[in-house]
Amino acid sequence: MATNSNNVDVYDPQDVLDAVARFRETHGRCQCAILDPWYNKGVGGVRDDYVEYMSAILAEIASVADHVYFWGFPEIVALFMERLPKTHEFVAWLTWYYKNNPSVIRGWRSAQQACIHIKTPDARMYPEHFLNEAQLEKKAQGKLRYMPGPTSVIESSLLVGFVGRKEQTGHKSQKPVPVYEQIIRMATTEGDLVFDPMCGSGTTGEVCLKHGRRAVLNDIEPEYVEMTRNRMERCTPEEPLQAALI
Ligand SMILES: C[S@@+](CC[C@H](N)C(=O)[O-])C[C@H]1O[C@@H](n2cnc3c(N)ncnc32)[C@H](O)[C@@H]1O
Repeated sequence: MATNSNNVDVYDPQDVLDAVARFRETHGRCQCAILDPWYNKGVGGVRDDYVEYMSAILAEIASVADHVYFWGFPEIVALFMERLPKTHEFVAWLTWYYKNNPSVIRGWRSAQQACIHIKTPDARMYPEHFLNEAQLEKKAQGKLRYMPGPTSVIESSLLVGFVGRKEQTGHKSQKPVPVYEQIIRMATTEGDLVFDPMCGSGTTGEVCLKHGRRAVLNDIEPEYVEMTRNRMERCTPEEPLQAALI
């Protein structure tokens, strides 16, 4: 049975494609979907047909979502640039930059992950969610001459060691909340629906709960579904600090 905690539904463990089918039946569409799979690098196994397999999943997810964010290491995400669903247009190549990866790797240490943002031609974006107070005031007075947006490089520390201790769940590939706040707030407004069918520790759910979005979450691993459900129980909606945080 699915749980529903403050507008977040967490499906019982199932494959991503089954989750998409169920989502289509129940909700039809959503404003935003996040696809953050294993990266074909060992954790979660390596598949020879990774590109074909993931392209099919990307197409299915795009068929139910206005905005899609597709994550991975840059050399993997790059393989999909020529295979984006035709229903969507390319918006941006986003980079999550972190400089605190532990130095256990010989050679180049990872300091980034990539994310392709695609959307349907009619889908709205919300750069106004990132205005500071002075800019909001100018906007209210009709004096904001252009709409500044956030940069395509999102800087946020990797959750490792003592960094983000309170946020850490024990999931091997957990994204930091500030990274998902940026992408979800760019594609949605209050009350909108976000679908994350490979949700891991449930970062999408936490961000949606904090910012008044609804979410449907799924993962194939029972352990991660339980982790996500527990995380949702602990989360509470956040009072917006300022009007811009909507
Ligand atoms: C990179 S992690 C997602 C991390 C997540 N964004 C977070 O912040 O915690 C990828 C997740 O995809 C899940 N997964 C792998 N294969 C799947 C499948 N076929 N269907 C659904 N989930 C799957 C894994 O169990 C894993 O939790």
